[in-house]
Amino acid sequence: MLSKSLTIVNQRYQAIKDGEDVIQGLTQTSKSLPPKYFYDDRGSELFEQICELPEYYPTRTEAWILSQYADEIAQITGGCELVELGSGSSTKTRILLDAYQKNAGDCRYVPIDVSGGMLATTVRQLQQTYPDFSIAGLQGTYEQALSHLKLQPWSSRMICFLGSSFGNFTRQESDGFLSKIARALKSGDYFLLGVDLQKPKEILLPAYNDSQGVTAAFNLNMLSHLNWRFQGDFDIKLFKHEAIYNQADGQIEMYLHCQKSHWVSLEMLDLQVFFEVGESILTEVSRKFDLGIMQKQLEVQGLKTVKIWTDPQQWFGLILCQA
Ligand code: TRP
Repeated sequence: MLSKSLTIVNQRYQAIKDGEDVIQGLTQTSKSLPPKYFYDDRGSELFEQICELPEYYPTRTEAWILSQYADEIAQITGGCELVELGSGSSTKTRILLDAYQKNAGDCRYVPIDVSGGMLATTVRQLQQTYPDFSIAGLQGTYEQALSHLKLQPWSSRMICFLGSSFGNFTRQESDGFLSKIARALKSGDYFLLGVDLQKPKEILLPAYNDSQGVTAAFNLNMLSHLNWRFQGDFDIKLFKHEAIYNQADGQIEMYLHCQKSHWVSLEMLDLQVFFEVGESILTEVSRKFDLGIMQKQLEVQGLKTVKIWTDPQQWFGLILCQA
C-alpha cells in the first residue's frame, strides 16, 4: 500500500548532482554547503525538536496564524490539490488539512521532502487520520518535485511553502525558485508562503542558538550526513556551531567553525579538503522579511497577493497569492 503513496523522483540523477554541489561548496575560498544536507532522517528528527524549543518562535507563531485563518484559506481556495514543499512531519499542515476537511470538498495532499524516512512515516499516519483524502508523498528536492508536478496537472492546486524555508535561499536563488513555482501553477492556482519577519536580534539570535544545544547538534549533523552519504571522515568534534545576525542583510547566518587545522576526505566524491583553524563553513542563511518587499517580489513572478495574515506581534507572515 505504501509503495503506491510514496514516489521517489529521479533518484539516480539526484545522487550525481548532490555530490557536485558538495564539491563546489567545499572547494571555494569561502566554504559553504547546501542546507538540504541538514535533512537526513536524523536531521529531520532534530529539526522537529528545534520546532518545540522555547526559543524557536517561528513554528509556534506560524501554527497560531494557521489555527486562526485556515478555515478562511480553505474557503477562498475551495477543494484542491495541496502540495507541500519540505513537509517534514506535516504537523502544522494538519491544521490546514482539518480546515479543508471541514470547509472544502475534493482534496488531495502531496507532501514533498528529501528525507524519505520521515515522509513514509508521515504519509502512513496521515492516511489513517484523513481516510477521505488521497495522500501521495514525493521524495526529492524542490526542483525535482516541481518539474515532476508540471507533468501531473490537477484541476486546482495550491503549493504550500511554510516555516520560512523560503528564507534559506539567497535573494538570487529565491527569484529562480519563485519562477519555478509559477511554472508549476496554472492561472487561478494558489501559492501559500510562510515568511519570518524582521525583528530585533535579541529575539532572533536565541532562536538559532538555543540553550539546550539542539540547534548545534542539528548543524553538526550535516557533517555526519556527508560522512555516511559520501564515505567521508569528518570529525564532528573538530567543528563548532556558530550563529550570527548579519544586520546589514537582515539575516541569520549559520556556520560550522573549524577548531583545528586538518584534512577531510570524502571518498565517494574523490575529494580531499584542507580546513584551516578558525575557518568556517556557511551551512545556512535565514533571511528575515518585510511583507511589502516580499509582495513585490512575488508580483514580479506573476503571483498576485490575495491576502496576508500575521500574528499580533507581527513576527511571522502568511501570504496567500494566486497565479
Ligand atoms: N527554515 C528554518 C529557519 O530558517 C530552518 C532552521 C531553523 C535552521 N533552525 C535552524 C537551519 C538551525 C539551521 C540551523 O528558521
